[in-house]
Amino acid sequence: MTTLFTDVYMSPRLLAPGGTPADLTTHEQRYGPLGYGDPAALLRTLAESGLTGRGGAGFPAYRKFVAVTDSARRTERAPIVVANGAESEPASRKDRTLLRLSPHLVLDGLQLAAEAVGAAEAYLAVEEGASYLESALAQRRDPVRVQVVRLPARFLSGQASALVQYLSGGPARPAHPVPPVRERGVRRAPTLVQNVETLAHLALVARYGADWFRSAGTPGEPGSTLCTLHVPGREVRVVEAPFGMPVGRLLPLEGASAALVGGYHGTWIPAAEAAQVPLASSYLGAGVLAALPADRCGLTETARVLRYLALQSAGQCGPCLNGLPRMAAAFQTLAVPGPQGTARTDISRWAGLVEGRGACHHPDGTIRLVRSALTTFTTELDAHAHGHCTATDRTPVLPVPTEEI
Ligand SMILES: Cc1cc2nc3c(=O)[nH]c(=O)nc-3n(C[C@H](O)[C@H](O)[C@H](O)COP(=O)(O)O)c2cc1C
Ligand code: SF4
Repeated sequence: MTTLFTDVYMSPRLLAPGGTPADLTTHEQRYGPLGYGDPAALLRTLAESGLTGRGGAGFPAYRKFVAVTDSARRTERAPIVVANGAESEPASRKDRTLLRLSPHLVLDGLQLAAEAVGAAEAYLAVEEGASYLESALAQRRDPVRVQVVRLPARFLSGQASALVQYLSGGPARPAHPVPPVRERGVRRAPTLVQNVETLAHLALVARYGADWFRSAGTPGEPGSTLCTLHVPGREVRVVEAPFGMPVGRLLPLEGASAALVGGYHGTWIPAAEAAQVPLASSYLGAGVLAALPADRCGLTETARVLRYLALQSAGQCGPCLNGLPRMAAAFQTLAVPGPQGTARTDISRWAGLVEGRGACHHPDGTIRLVRSALTTFTTELDAHAHGHCTATDRTPVLPVPTEEI
């Protein structure tokens, strides 16, 4: 069960206060009416807002909207819009929390996105909660038809080209080679894929304007973002915080040795350093923040996640087929106290070989996690090499679907 503590850091923008789902009436009372009718004005406001994607890469939303519109004009095909609610990373809860508490904000954003790029068709893709969302849709009188689609529960289901391939009737794995979905997406139509949180922000940008949006965050990274917090012994929490806020204000790090910032494609950072790091989309990924208590082993945690990530790859490019399973096996050697052989140098070498060579970013994200573990957990690495482990508690910190390990 995920608990919400949104009002601790800022007045919540996206999530209904008190953790109560907002039906359409409550939603309209809270946010006011939604104005349609001028796609050019909406695009201008979007550009001024500086809104970036909240699905992991932090790409400017305006640039994607324009690219899709250009592509539609060039190919003379009507574009399609997809709300990405896959939230396939096992440690993330923010998108399903948002969809559960404020579904109409996402659905407003989806309609606005369709209007802005001139789409007549839209999808909302999720791994869970499809029937609940269909009920929310049934309350509305939207100009653009939205179809809710249930995705298979796989780490790669949420990758944009995997998503459009699935919506086109294929398997939920990244296309290889990957044509940009903005040019050739669902059924080969130019397709705009935006994370559901990005669309919810869009719904507020359209209502209240760019200046209002920029009143939170920093000039370089305006707005707020949803984060999922993992602290062992406490409930998983979803919070909304402004960009620029130090991680230590959100994530309790007393007694922690390190923090995982940005989830399973993210970065391990020593706790003291992580406490000062400001929230920024460049490494926040989809907003997962986890504290690693000093009595746990960061190598064991990384080995478990790495094994999961290696198994999740679609196995259709060299880096995933050969690199990730080898790295996962070698990392498992590092995670066990005793002789390490050449595991450490092998992993570093393989990371260099794999980097930048996948058809999607799965290998690169995985390498980021591995490299940060090798630099952050040097004390544990040395202790393990001498046959000891500093950890006294073996309870896993990071969630990994059990059937996958
Ligand atoms: C392996 C992998 C998994 C991903 N999973 C998700 C996901 O579950 N949800 C999501 O919104 N984006 C996910 N993405 C990012 C999408 O490819 C895409 O960039 C995003 O949905 C675009 O929306 P945004 O610009 O609003 O962030 C994933 C990317 C990769 C490489
Ligand atoms: S890099 Fe890996 S996950 Fe991405 S398309 Fe290739 S095999 Fe699939």
